[in-house]
Amino acid sequence: MDILIVGSGGREYSIGLALKKDTQVGQLYFAPGNGASDRLGENVAISDFGELADFVEAKGISLTIVGPETPLVDGIVDLFRGRGLVIFGPTAAAAQLEGSKSFMKNFLSRHHIPTARYIETDSLETSYKFIDTLEAPIVVKADGLCAGKGVIIAHSREEAKREAGEMLSGNAFGEAGRKIVIEEFLDGYELSVFAVCDGKDYVVLPAAQDHKRLLNDDQGPNTGGMGAYAPTPLVNDDIYAKLRVRVIEPTLKGMLEEGAPFTGVLFIGVMVVRGEPIILEYNVRFGDPECEELMPLLRSPASELFYKAAIGDLKSAKIEFYDKYAVGVVMASKNYPYKDSKPAEIIIDEIVHDDIRANAHISFAGVQRGEDGKLYATGGRVLVCVGIGETIKEAQQRAYMLCGQVHFLGKQCRTDIAYQALGLNT
Ligand code: AMP
Ligand code: GLY
Repeated sequence: MDILIVGSGGREYSIGLALKKDTQVGQLYFAPGNGASDRLGENVAISDFGELADFVEAKGISLTIVGPETPLVDGIVDLFRGRGLVIFGPTAAAAQLEGSKSFMKNFLSRHHIPTARYIETDSLETSYKFIDTLEAPIVVKADGLCAGKGVIIAHSREEAKREAGEMLSGNAFGEAGRKIVIEEFLDGYELSVFAVCDGKDYVVLPAAQDHKRLLNDDQGPNTGGMGAYAPTPLVNDDIYAKLRVRVIEPTLKGMLEEGAPFTGVLFIGVMVVRGEPIILEYNVRFGDPECEELMPLLRSPASELFYKAAIGDLKSAKIEFYDKYAVGVVMASKNYPYKDSKPAEIIIDEIVHDDIRANAHISFAGVQRGEDGKLYATGGRVLVCVGIGETIKEAQQRAYMLCGQVHFLGKQCRTDIAYQALGLNT
């Protein structure tokens, strides 16, 4: 079958890589893709959903997979389904789980799914009152989509009030901050858990851990994620069981009852506090860079997972994962996450080491092909070096060996990805 992947990041590239290994998959298309995805398939410069659906019909594409949240929130799935096309992702109504933090928090309360104490408000006065009932640190979040950057952890009540004011006035995040969520701070360790859902049934993927801060030891500003690994040994059977029974099943049931059955990937941001999983947030798509580690761990054909979920038949799918680990290290541009960087040529040394060739690869994200045919880093997160291994340590070493072969001006990466897991063994 021919498949269209919507998006342009490392996440979409890694889905493409997994599909390339699948013998049931023919031609791949990316809309819009990036400067490297044209190695895996054809890049298509169409952004209008209706025109994209025309393209899918004209080419006889059997399945469309949507990577990022924005087209989901904007209703791409509704439009495609309306035209009888098979598409992987949630409808606009179901995507509200990510598109609106207040919708998500109210949904969690309605269905008794554990989450931090919070209020949702557009009033400065109400914010101040609630902040006065909390102890610092205090979390202040913009309600709308801010590409993962709309969350402030304030270290005093005064700071929390100042940030609430900045958001509500529109200064901090524009319209996305006109409504805010204020919540208590959860002190624990964070997980990224993904459940692929078809509206009724689901498959839980190996739990991952992201590294959101720019610098080692979780210092510096928040980013979209500087590296991740999976599966994490920080999750045991007890936590998986609690996630199924207390979180995933009530969510699927709740969405079904509310008339917005959830199809696609439910990304559960979890904080484990004294052994109890508490929900930080939902997203309605794969995490980036988590997807880049999960895709290579998939042993069964990737098309089966996506197609069966999209047609509501996950029950008949047999989804398996390798008993291995994956570590992904993000290489970002010089000024990330503050501002754009000048395009910088990417030079990748020839990989002569057989072990690295066999067990490590690059997932490309913020890259463009220049008129000279060379690959350029065009800002943001440029690529992810992924290592696979029998242990986390081995996977990590392979990922970093590969990082050592990649050069571009101003490149930055963390050198401690997977430290929480490795700390357990030492
Ligand atoms: P969110 O976009 O809601 O996932 O928040 C981004 C990041 O902020 C999370 O990945 C956490 O690291 C942190 N965070 C969000 N909410 C809380 C909370 N209530 N307690 C502690 N950390 C939080
Ligand atoms: N890596 C976190 C995210 O994609 O939001």
